Amino acid sequence: MAKTLHRLVKAVVVTAIAAVVGLLTTVPSSADVTPFVVGGTRATISEYPWTVYLASTSGSQFCGGTLVKGNKVVTAAHCVSGRSAASTRVVWGREDKQSTAGITASVTRIWVHPSYTSASSGSDVAVLTLDRSITSAYLPLATPSDTALYAAGTSTTILGWGTTSSGGSASRYLLKATVPVTSDATCRTAYSNYSSTSMVCAGYPQGGTDTCQGDSGGPIVAGGKLIGATSWGRGCALAGYPGVYARVATYYDLLTTQINS
Ligand code: ARG
Repeated sequence: MAKTLHRLVKAVVVTAIAAVVGLLTTVPSSADVTPFVVGGTRATISEYPWTVYLASTSGSQFCGGTLVKGNKVVTAAHCVSGRSAASTRVVWGREDKQSTAGITASVTRIWVHPSYTSASSGSDVAVLTLDRSITSAYLPLATPSDTALYAAGTSTTILGWGTTSSGGSASRYLLKATVPVTSDATCRTAYSNYSSTSMVCAGYPQGGTDTCQGDSGGPIVAGGKLIGATSWGRGCALAGYPGVYARVATYYDLLTTQINS
């Protein structure tokens, strides 16, 4: 009798443990739920005053961008292609999306790279013209002679208000992370459509730190310059799949013309 009860208890306990283990294996690992960009930390607007976000007229953030002149923002083409200027706002100086800090500017013009078709085909750059000139520090573009900034291993800063895991929810606060530039060979191994002229990749071989949905258009910075705009990637922060950024230096002349127009 006692032995039967003992067996029963043991069976229940074993079943319960198996159930918990089963549950744990389907729950995301801690790497997936890190509450930042993916694997990042909070960034202050005073340190990154040129980091802006794009919002709808109702104020909902959908992409990032970089102030490159008082009234000009560089972003990703895929963020604004097919969008009207009238339906687009640029929010500057607001680290916390739930605050009313900073300035909400209207957009008067959207320029999308004429060759753009989709992020993974390249030319994923756009320039927005604002309805006002914002008095703020702005970030210079990397130029074609800034080859060192694109060398494998160069330390970069990625910034944004995007999701903190693939398919997760967007961040309330501006987040930043540090990732190294990936070699062209590594990036081509990950992505057959990688183009070393129109794109640059960044991320650790083991993953864990990356931009993610909603970070698109936002800055990747090296050497105090804008080297890229967040563009695409497989999932987010996956080992072997770095983030892909539009290569700003390649579009330097075209972007500069737009910025000075
Ligand atoms: N396409 C995304 C966006 O629109 C950005 C994805 C970046 N992905 C990555 N693994 N780094 O916000």
